[in-house]
Amino acid sequence: MVQPTSSLNALGSKQPSAEPCVLVIFGASGDLTKRLLMPAFYNLACDGLLTEHFAIVGMAMDELTTESFREKMATDIKQFSTRQEFDQNTWDWLSSRLYYTPGKFDDNAAFVRLAGLVSKLDERYQARGNVLFYMATPPPVFGLISSNIEKAGFKTSSAGWKRIIVEKPFGNDLPSAIALNREILTYWTEDQIYRIDHYLGKETVQNIIAFRFSNGMFEPVWNRNFIDHIQFSVAEAVGVEGRGAYYDRSGVLRDMLQNHMFQMLAYLCMEPPTSFAPEAVRNEKSKLLEAVRIMDAGSVRANTVRGQYGPGVSSDGKPALGYREEPSVPSLSATETFAAVKLFIDNWRWLGVPIYLRSGKRLWKRGTEIVVQLKSPPDIVFRGTPVASLEPNRLIFHIQPDQGIELRFQAKTPGPEMSLQNVNMRFDYSQAFTAPRATGYEVLIYNCMNGDATLFSRTDLVETAWRIAQPMLDVWKNEPADFPNYAAGTWGPKAAFELMERDGRKWVEILNRETLEKVPLFEGADTVFLASLILALKPVVFQPGDLVVRQGESGGEMYVISRGEVEVIDGSGNVVATLGEGNFFGEISLLTAAPRNATVRAKSYCDFFVLDKSGFTRVLRDRPQFLKSIMEIAQTRYNLSAQEVLSEHSDK
Ligand code: BG6
Repeated sequence: MVQPTSSLNALGSKQPSAEPCVLVIFGASGDLTKRLLMPAFYNLACDGLLTEHFAIVGMAMDELTTESFREKMATDIKQFSTRQEFDQNTWDWLSSRLYYTPGKFDDNAAFVRLAGLVSKLDERYQARGNVLFYMATPPPVFGLISSNIEKAGFKTSSAGWKRIIVEKPFGNDLPSAIALNREILTYWTEDQIYRIDHYLGKETVQNIIAFRFSNGMFEPVWNRNFIDHIQFSVAEAVGVEGRGAYYDRSGVLRDMLQNHMFQMLAYLCMEPPTSFAPEAVRNEKSKLLEAVRIMDAGSVRANTVRGQYGPGVSSDGKPALGYREEPSVPSLSATETFAAVKLFIDNWRWLGVPIYLRSGKRLWKRGTEIVVQLKSPPDIVFRGTPVASLEPNRLIFHIQPDQGIELRFQAKTPGPEMSLQNVNMRFDYSQAFTAPRATGYEVLIYNCMNGDATLFSRTDLVETAWRIAQPMLDVWKNEPADFPNYAAGTWGPKAAFELMERDGRKWVEILNRETLEKVPLFEGADTVFLASLILALKPVVFQPGDLVVRQGESGGEMYVISRGEVEVIDGSGNVVATLGEGNFFGEISLLTAAPRNATVRAKSYCDFFVLDKSGFTRVLRDRPQFLKSIMEIAQTRYNLSAQEVLSEHSDK
């Protein structure tokens, strides 16, 4: 079967195919293969990036045959493919290259059978003796597999390269990472080892360095003289999703910070490499992480916060279990599902600039963002004007689910008075590029097949990252926390806010389109429209007991709760509902002049995003095409007449 013709890349040129090879997946019957690897191979095939000289062999304990493996993959790809349209021809091409051999990882005979199959396929597909081994298995068997590969004679039997891809977690702490590195390095040389971190496969993460080093505009301010601080947030709305046994040995520091977040930190803060040659980039990343100040126990206590979720609500509004009630999690687990950390980079560029990182599971929204906040300008010029304070400029990298880069600044509000409004300039991937969605593994596998290790972690980087994490692991292990300390569906423990507020700073909460779309009024709205609405939102704070809206008053704002809880009170003074982070209220007031039908009171300290009628009207006025769809939604969802809505918004 001939591979479907190659496509053109975004620049209109044809990218070269990956080098020939037989790719062996250990643990091929597991989740990773069906969810990510197979869809990635399929995407590479669709883009014409695999050669005719390519085949895949799956090996795992399950007693599958090549036929049943192909059948299983054919079913799974329909579920996990990231493409909108399924291309049967391309799948048939790939499927005809899938093979399977059952075997345990400690069974020498199974590896001898594997070697026989690989050599047969090498001959059939003319793969030049190149073999890529993908360890889609837990790390404790990396050494065992490597030793059996060696015993089966793979490395001596043919010409061609031999490489391994190893999945995280790469070690469980510094000593185990060093031991694992030593073990693997007895079987492989550094240039054969490709330690994968799927965050580096994300276009938005790779774009951090492209953005920094291809634009002259930002590099001059990229240092302690101009930057006040940097924030990294990786918020997940999901819980541990059936991975309780793994997660409980890990926790968020090991699962997210030590790898994915430190990688992003390295990209954002490293010095310019001399080229994009793999070692040039890897050297700079390593140097940056080496400059991160290692905390002593006192600094860990002062500069870190950990949390574990208790029962609450999930992002779709359904009740959610607490972490300790999740399957396979011990009922008194001390594992953290949330962490916020303040780090410093002790080098010439960054000395004294705090770097805040936070990540957690079961938070009220999903979103990965990096905020680079510049120092505030002096506000003396604005004395005597209605401008009370100046907002600092912020450069925001939207990693996911929104993908883009945004620069927030202030502009004069039209009118005779000198007043300011927050505005932005935004680059959005979905508007600028039309590439189909990918898993992130495509570029990693493709690069590995071509021997390009830029996106993979070297021994020294992995160990340095553990060196930064180790004091936190030690202190946290010895000093148990009072868990659970945040409810599922909230923004994590209060102490995470205090960590920044003590420094006179705040986490910049980013309301993304996915979150705004949960408001029925905006469900399915156009991305441009949602992006404009997000900009029109203003942050507002209420203290416990404050009335936010009063029944009977004609209101003009819709509120999205970013932090805290409110009570909804009916006409007789009864609390009829309690709303928390991610909930919203007041949207009918945006649409009509009808009085509020309930009172809302802050139950705790609350942060809201507020969309007021004038902001909403302005967005609608700038984009009149959306008024029609808003009127339709108002009618079907809220039973409001088009006339009511029009009279509020058309003449303003
Ligand atoms: C994995 C972690 O490495 O990354 C998971 O083990 C986490 O716990 C996942 O959910 C997040 O990846 P992404 O691409 O969804 O941000």
